[in-house]
Parts: sequence; C-alpha cells; structure tokens
Amino acid sequence: YKRITTKSLIEMKANGEKISMLTAYDYTMAKIVDTAGIDVILVGDSASNVMAGHETTLPITLDQMIYHASSVVRAIERALVVVDLPFGSYQSDPKEALRSAIRIMKESGGHAVKLEGGKEIKDSIKKILNAGIPVMGHLGLTPQSIYKFGTYTVRAKEEEEALKLMEDAKLLEKLGCFAIVIEKVPADLAEKVAKSISIPVIGIGAGGGVDGQVLVIHDMLGMNNEFSPRFLRRYMNLYEGMTTAISQYVADVKSSDFPNANEQY
Ligand code: KIV
Ligand code: NA
Repeated sequence: YKRITTKSLIEMKANGEKISMLTAYDYTMAKIVDTAGIDVILVGDSASNVMAGHETTLPITLDQMIYHASSVVRAIERALVVVDLPFGSYQSDPKEALRSAIRIMKESGGHAVKLEGGKEIKDSIKKILNAGIPVMGHLGLTPQSIYKFGTYTVRAKEEEEALKLMEDAKLLEKLGCFAIVIEKVPADLAEKVAKSISIPVIGIGAGGGVDGQVLVIHDMLGMNNEFSPRFLRRYMNLYEGMTTAISQYVADVKSSDFPNANEQY
C-alpha cells in the first residue's frame, strides 16, 4: 500500500494481514512512526496523560486535539491518521458530535475520527458517517468513562458486559464504522468479536486473536517507566537512555567539556 485508507484496512482483514497502529501527538514523532511503516497513527486523547500530564483523558479539549492532529498530519506520507473526539465534544447530541468531527477534519486534515461507546452514541455515529467522515469505534475499557468504571482493570469479564460488547461491535459494523478499537478485555472474547464481524478489530490488551494492535508510543518506547500493565511490550528503554544522555550533557556543560574547539565558530 502506497497510502493507507479505511478501505486498505478492511482489505487487510480480508487477506489476514494484521494492522499496526501507534499513537503520535507531534510532528517529529509522527514522521518517525510513518517512515518506519506504521499503518495507522492515532492522535489519541491519551495526549491528555502523555503530553499534558493529566491523570485522565477527560480534560483535553477539542482545540488541543486539533493542534496535536494538525502537527501529525503535516508529517505523514503513508499512514492513515485517526483523531479521537475528546470527552465533552460529542456526548450531548448528534449535532454537537458532527460539529466536532467537522472541525477535526477541516482544521487538522486528519482522515477519520474515533469515538468511545456503542449503542448510546449510535445517532451521533450515524450523523458523522452521513457527512462522509469515516468513524472508528472504541469498546471495552473506554477511558473517558473511567469515573463510571472506577478502575482501569479488565472489562467484560462477566456475561452481561461481554454480550453488550458483542452487540455493540455488530451495531458499529452495521452503522458503517471502518474499524473498532477494543481495549482491555479477555482475549477469548476479543477474538470472538473479531471473528463475528468483517471490519477490523484493533486490540490493546485484548490478545492476539484480533486483526491488529495499538499501543501508546511513549509506553512502547519505554519513556514512561511508571506504567507497566501486563499487555505492554517495551521495545526500548528510552527513559534510561534519555536520562543518561541528559545527565551526560549536564556534566559536560558543568565541566566545560561541551562545546569543544570543533563545536564553535
Ligand atoms: O487515546 C488513546 O491512546 C487510545 C488508544 C489507547 C486506543 O484511545
Ligand atoms: Na483515546
């Protein structure tokens, strides 16, 4: 694929090719992620945690999401860019949801939006889709509802919530969503859902039986050494690497080792 579209992702699922997705929130990081060959870049509202240091995803605003998304869009040549609709920008009513989605598309140049929830937000999803804006769903542990859940532990372990998840996934497919993120549910359930629908299921903490995987880039690069859920694989220890580099710089400045004769005019 020269350029990933929502159609490419549905084709990948049909062909049994797994989909790779990572978050990015800024130009420099997005350029690296895109060049490395990622299929989908998510401008996640996890920016609220990772970029701004908030405890939850709730405080981030639509304007802030647009700032992050426009920075990412300027960097990419191949990846599909999906942008989270932040908390408070789509829950009141479908018109507000559409207005927010339109702002993201116009002002950031992103290619699709993601909303958390199933049946509860079906009219909003319909309205956005009717405007020609592709929608990615998000089910399971939906962090914008953290105060309802009260905990970040695994969702849908009980029959009732598992059944609702399956119904919601089928509904999102029927409405016309091009993919669904499923977060932190038992692997068996996520696999069952993925096998029941023809649009891709992209998992985070949802096992290997789904159609693709997503992680927060700062977590998989090991920049965040305080966050170690079981589902996270760390591909680097950037926390250590960066701390060492920065301490060395401090020491070199203090000792007048930096700059040397070749590093000045
Ligand atoms: O905001 C985010 O990073 C997300 C992913 C964890 C799926 O929604
Ligand atoms: Na998110």
